[in-house]
Formats: sequence, structure tokens, C-alpha cells
Amino acid sequence: MHTIFIIYWSTWDLAKRKLFPALYNIFKYKKEQSIDIIAVGRRDFSNIEFQNYIDLETEEFIEKDEDFSLFLKNINYSKVELTKSEDYSKLRQDISKYEKNDTRVIFYLSISPEYFDAFVDNYKYIDIKDAKIIFEKPFGTDLETAKKLNTKIMEVFREEQVYRIDHYVWKEAIQNILAFRFANIIFEPIWNNNYIDNIQITASETVGVGDRWWYYDSSWALRDMVQNHLFQVLSLVVMNPPSMIDSEWIRQEKLKVFRSIKLWNDYEKNIVFWQYEWYLWEKDVAPNSRTETFVAMKLEVNSWNFVWVPIYLRTGKALSQKSTQIVIEFKEVPDILFKKFWAISKNRIILEIQPNEAIDIHFNIKENWNSKEVERVKSKFVKEIESKEAYEKLLEDVIVSDKTLFTSWEILQETWQIVDNLVNCKNNCPIIHKYEKASNGPNASDILLENDGRKWYG
Ligand code: BG6
Repeated sequence: MHTIFIIYWSTWDLAKRKLFPALYNIFKYKKEQSIDIIAVGRRDFSNIEFQNYIDLETEEFIEKDEDFSLFLKNINYSKVELTKSEDYSKLRQDISKYEKNDTRVIFYLSISPEYFDAFVDNYKYIDIKDAKIIFEKPFGTDLETAKKLNTKIMEVFREEQVYRIDHYVWKEAIQNILAFRFANIIFEPIWNNNYIDNIQITASETVGVGDRWWYYDSSWALRDMVQNHLFQVLSLVVMNPPSMIDSEWIRQEKLKVFRSIKLWNDYEKNIVFWQYEWYLWEKDVAPNSRTETFVAMKLEVNSWNFVWVPIYLRTGKALSQKSTQIVIEFKEVPDILFKKFWAISKNRIILEIQPNEAIDIHFNIKENWNSKEVERVKSKFVKEIESKEAYEKLLEDVIVSDKTLFTSWEILQETWQIVDNLVNCKNNCPIIHKYEKASNGPNASDILLENDGRKWYG
């Protein structure tokens, strides 16, 4: 089969860091797929100039070999102003140059959301009936804007053509959550409020806002990381087993989770919004910006198995390390035996998502042959095979129309509804405090757990 990928905007960071490397791997390793790429942008480039530009710009993201120069030849450039209808007709002609009998056309829209409407309005000048359209986030900025956008898209496209992505769910270690939970008999019986004391989900990043202020300053950590990535992870951790590993069944189970998430009572005390020092000095950030670059919160999932289990989420930028992990902390054993004499550590299951992909299980055993003491051991299972980059798998799923990991409209609505409520909490929060860059984040997030007699793990 032959595929034409149309990448809007092809000069953006995402295209250079993720999309072109992913497309190159598909080109190189999936020989049964033949691909052409039309890179769309606003600048003037000839095909050759753009190929040279991508060659240079992807230097640190692609390990290049002799196949790379062949790959470059399949990249063509088309200059398009998203608001000009004549540019869409020209793009249509450019697409025709590469179309074959069995071609499928995939549009990847990594553009500012304010252009989504222009794209939909002008699509009539392209009018490829079965094209697939990938929408990068943000899909709206709240429930209302997301609804408007979805209604607009549905005027022109059918649901099966629309792919709303959250690249996090293509991370191998995140996909592994369902296998870990449901392909083993030993964990699921204790995976509930009888045994789990609390769940902690952390996504910390070392990078600051960089050159994405135009998006981030109105998006904030809440919309940039929580509404999508962290909620997706949370749903996989607490959902019930689907009856089948099938996109509709999995989405339905996730949906139930989103319908039952709520902020813990006394909500203003259970969410903190902070900003890294010097954020206001970042290029072009509004001088009085109240954007939080760190958010931590305590949530509850009102389901039979998880009600009463505090779920702590935190995410932030400009921190000391890049790391995503899920910690399942179990309740203590009754204190009639060892606990009377020795400090016994809690059992934990730690699902490390990145940078390492590992599962770490903490349990207690007798210290050694001449001691009666008990010590904690960690048994760590590290995945040794290098996983594919999330974007590569994501594009492959679009090629074969597998929608299992794409976000359904129902899920988006539910997650926006929750985030809208959290934004109300932020509006009641008078001051956005500062935390030091390259630190472990603000003290307030530690206090959130200390108030409950707990600590963040790691
Ligand atoms: C993106 C956010 O969706 O995810 C970025 O917009 C964030 O702000 C990124 O840096 C994190 O993804 P990853 O895969 O690098 O952990």
C-alpha cells in the first residue's frame, strides 16, 4: 500500500524531533509500506531546499545511514497559508502528483488550534473522501471550545476519519500497564481499596517552556499534561478489565473511570499550582502570567474498587530530573508479628515509564541467616529491548486504521469537564508561588501528602 503523509507544520519542533524520525523508521523498516511526504509550511522552500533543511535540522534526532538520502527524496514541500483557499487547491494538485491507485492520504495537523477551523472550512478544496486526519493536542482549551471544535470537524469529516492523539499512550511502558495487570493472576486480587493505600503518578521534566510560550502560557500544566497524559495513565491504572482487548471495550472502561474521578473533598487544600522562578522572564511570556508550570493534586475515583484510595498526581517543568512513574503503595501488615520489633517497609509496585522502562516490586524478607530482622528488597524487572518511539507506533496505527489508542470524543468531553472544575479551583487561588529551577518541585506538593501522613516516593 502507498501512503501520502501531509505534515502541517513541517518546520516545527515536533516535526523535526518526532515526526520525521518516525517517518524515517517507517520508510526504512516497513518496506511493505511505500510512503511519500508532503511537508507543509508557510516559508518559501523548493523541494531540494526543504530536503537539505530537514537533513540539517534532524541531525541530532536521526541516526542516518545510506537509506536516509533515499528517504529525503520522498519529501516534497508545499507552501500553504492555512487561511487562503487558493493554497488548498494548490496543495490538492501537489497531492495528485504522488497519488497512485491504492494511495491513502493522512493529514497530520500539528498547528495552533486557532487554525483548525480554517483547515476544516477549506478542506472542500482538497476533498479527499477517505483521508485520515490526525489532530495534535490541544483539542480545545476547555469543554466549550472542544465541543465547538468537534462540531465543526464533524460537519466535514466522519468520526472514523478523525484521529485525536495523546502520544503518551503509545509509550511502551504505558501500554504494558494493561498486560501487567490483566495477564497475571497475582496482582489483580490486591489491586483495590482493600490493599492499596495510595497511588502516586509523577511526570517531571527538566525542560522549561522553551520557545513554546505562545501555546504554554495559555495552556498551563493542567491542560498541557494533566487533561491528557496523566489522566490517560490514571485510567489505565484503575480501570476494570475490558471484556476484550479491543478499542471500543477499552475506551468504554476508561470512560467509566473519567466519569467517576473527582477532586478530594475540601478541594482547595488538595491542589497546588506553582510556577518556576524566572518563568516570567522567559521570552514573550506575559509579565503577570498566572500560568502554573507545576501542579499537584489529590484525586479520588468513585468506583467500587478505588473509592477511598487517594490518588496523587504531580507534574512540572524545569525540575531536577525527567522521569515518569506510577507508584502503587500498599497498606501495612497487621502489627502483631515483625512490625512489633522492626520497621517494616510498605510493599510497593513501581511502574517506571521513562527514562527507564521497568517494574520494581518492593517487599520484605528476613535479613540474613543469623538475624531475625526483616529487610526490604527490591526486585526490578527492566525491559532490555529498546522500544519504538511513540510517534512511530502511532503513525503505524493510523496507517492500518487501528483506533484502540486514540482518544474518543466521549473521553475528551469527560476529561475537559474535570479540568474545567480544576481551573475553577485555580481561579480561587490568589497567588501562584514560585519554586526553584532544577529543584524537586515546591514544598507545597510534599505538604499535600504530609497532611495525610504520607510521602512522595522517589
Ligand atoms: C507534550 C507536552 O504533550 O508532552 C510537552 O505538550 C511535554 O509540554 C511533553 O514536554 C512530554 O512528553 P514526553 O514524551 O517528552 O515525556
